[in-house]
Amino acid sequence: MHEDKKSFSVAIDGPSGAGKSTIAKLCAEKLGFLYVDTGAIYRTVGLAALEAGIASKDEAGVAALLPKLDISMDHDGDGLQRMLLGGRDVTSDIRKPEVSIYASDVSAMPPVRAYLLEMQRRLAREHNVIMDGRDIGTVVLPDADLKIFLTADAGERAQRRYDELLIRGIATSYDDVLRDILYRDENDSKRSISPLKQAEDAVLVDTTGNTLEKSFSIICRMIEENMNK
Ligand code: DC
Repeated sequence: MHEDKKSFSVAIDGPSGAGKSTIAKLCAEKLGFLYVDTGAIYRTVGLAALEAGIASKDEAGVAALLPKLDISMDHDGDGLQRMLLGGRDVTSDIRKPEVSIYASDVSAMPPVRAYLLEMQRRLAREHNVIMDGRDIGTVVLPDADLKIFLTADAGERAQRRYDELLIRGIATSYDDVLRDILYRDENDSKRSISPLKQAEDAVLVDTTGNTLEKSFSIICRMIEENMNK
């Protein structure tokens, strides 16, 4: 780690279901870093809009809601990031499929991105972080110490997300999950503001066909090597 820097930051970007959050959380636990799941923050804004009865693409409506929001996060002893909306724990609610679509839609709105930018940067200033999202290496932390772009084949990402939802007891079908993944890939990559895109200086890691353990060990090793540079 550079001696003149207070914190070390790792940016992990990539499409939905590539395994970013699972791997980032495990590596953060192993290395003693704070894990920040930025998708969960966008999901919390999406949930707030859904609950307020605002259409997912109503930018003026969502922008008017932002100043009224009270969003915060907490970390469990086991590193799980809990999201609070007005003090209410919404960690499970934000994983529902309808909230995924809302999160993707509201995340394309410039006022939403501006609102969340400083929150994310502050966390990286104050802690050693592994932060995952879509634009962490390109926009949020352009000077991150290590940038990783994690991806996998869409069918495999859908299968992993489907298995995860089943474990959480959320009823859905593989076809619905694949359709959501493809919708969000398109939405997240084609939007004009902060699209999902590999930063020029990011390392590409394709996890298709990998076990979770294999991807975890590749990423952790990469982080450790960079910390010792
Ligand atoms: O990572 P996730 O699936 O929980 O993210 C939910 C949505 O939030 C996703 O469709 C895109 C958006 N998002 C974003 O635009 N920028 C980020 N840094 C993280 C997520």
